[in-house]
Amino acid sequence: MNKLSLLIDFHRDAQRQGPGSEAETLRALTFTELDRNRPLKMADIGCGTGAASLVLAKQLPGTIAAVDLLPEFLETLGARASSVGLSNRIQPMQASMERLPFGEESLDLIWSEGAIYTMGFEAGIAAWWQFLKPGGVLVVSEITWRSASRPEALSAYWESAYPEIGEASEKVGALERQGYHPQGYFLLPESCWLTNYYAPMEARFDDFLARHGHSEAAQALVAEERTEIEWYQAYSAYYGYGVYIARKPLAA
Ligand SMILES: C[S@@+](CC[C@H](N)C(=O)[O-])C[C@H]1O[C@@H](n2cnc3c(N)ncnc32)[C@H](O)[C@@H]1O
Repeated sequence: MNKLSLLIDFHRDAQRQGPGSEAETLRALTFTELDRNRPLKMADIGCGTGAASLVLAKQLPGTIAAVDLLPEFLETLGARASSVGLSNRIQPMQASMERLPFGEESLDLIWSEGAIYTMGFEAGIAAWWQFLKPGGVLVVSEITWRSASRPEALSAYWESAYPEIGEASEKVGALERQGYHPQGYFLLPESCWLTNYYAPMEARFDDFLARHGHSEAAQALVAEERTEIEWYQAYSAYYGYGVYIARKPLAA
C-alpha cells in the first residue's frame, strides 16, 4: 500500500482530520453575522469526513457543498450526514480546492478548517475571492505563530513543513491586501489539538499497525504522526491554529 492509501486508511473513520471542535466552529460562526432568514449557499473546502460541515448544516439554513479531494473521506461524510438526517443539506463534492467548480459570486460562506495550507494561505484566499458574493464571508483556520519570537529549532521545523506559517498580523494583512474586511481572529484552544485530534489519533495507532501487518510504511506513518504530536507537546506555547473570519465588502 502506498503512503496516500495508508493515510486515507488511517484517517477515513476519524471524526476530524485536524485540530478543532464543535464549540470553536460555533464560536467562529458568531463572528460571521450571516443573515439566517434566507437559505444560504455555502462551501466547506477540504472538509475531510465533515467535522465542520455537520455543525454548519445544523446551524444554518441552506446547502453546503462539502469539497474534498479524497472520495473515501466524502463517503464517510455522506454516511454521517444521512445518519443525522442532513443528507439533503450537505452535498459531498470531489474537487480540488485549486479548481473549485463554483460560479462567480455564488457563495454566501466559504469555510475551511485546517486545509488551506495545502495550496497555501495567500494563494487560497486569492483564488476563493471570486466565488464569494459581495457581503459573503470567509472563515479559514491556518497554522499561526502565537508570538513574535520562538526557538530556532522550531522555526527550522516549520520552515521545512510549511514555510508560509506566520503571525496573526501577517495573515490579517494578507486578507486586507486581498480586499477582505477582517471580522475576527482567535486561536484554537490546546484541547482542540490534544483531546479532539491527537488523543483519538493515538488510540488508532495499534489497530492501524495490526491491520497493515506492522509494515515498514505503516510504522513510518505512525512515527511521523508521533513526531508531530511531540513537537506540539513541546512547543504549543509558540504555535497553534488561528481562525480568521473576513468579509468580502459589498462594494469591492
Ligand atoms: C487536515 S485535513 C482537515 C479536514 C477537515 N476540515 C477537518 O478539520 O477535520 C485537510 C483536508 O484537505 C483535503 N485536501 C488536501 N488537498 C486538497 C485539495 N487540493 N483539494 C481539496 N481538498 C484537499 C484532505 O483530503 C483533507 O481532508
